[in-house]
Amino acid sequence: MDSTFNFEQKVSSHNKEEIYKILLDQVHAITLTENDLIANLSNTIALIRVQFDHHWIGFYFVKGSELVLGPFQGPPACTRIPFGKGVCGQSAEKGTTLIVKNVHEFPGHIACSSFSNSEIVIPFLKENKIDFILDIDSKDFNTFDEIDEKHLTQIINMALEHSIL
Ligand code: SME
Repeated sequence: MDSTFNFEQKVSSHNKEEIYKILLDQVHAITLTENDLIANLSNTIALIRVQFDHHWIGFYFVKGSELVLGPFQGPPACTRIPFGKGVCGQSAEKGTTLIVKNVHEFPGHIACSSFSNSEIVIPFLKENKIDFILDIDSKDFNTFDEIDEKHLTQIINMALEHSIL
């Protein structure tokens, strides 16, 4: 493992863009010499959680007409989500990012945890089809915006670049 970084230490900045920049370097470093997809995605979400302390961060992989739980950080979650259901299923069906400021106002939201109040779901493609989604839940309302979407997309793509898909 790269010893330039202390992967367990929260950076002192409160600026989201600055934190994401450091995270991108950390993800680059931690995935550079590893090509296993699950290992790289697992470490990537662990790094994100160290910096942002979100309630739940994880992946759901498309398997047939369902999303199936992948690597995650946080409390136990729903194992399977049908395509089109909940924030995750709708994001996967539409192929677009969904940023939900208040999950209680989102029709069909699946409450895996009663502590979750806002959420972002970003779909990732393989050969033009949705392959998996990244889902992050926050205990706070209104946590995520386009800055998160941009940087999280970049960070996951960095992990994918170093992985055998
Ligand atoms: N809230 C999500 C379900 C997944 S959990 O939050 C981990 C949804 O509505 O799809």
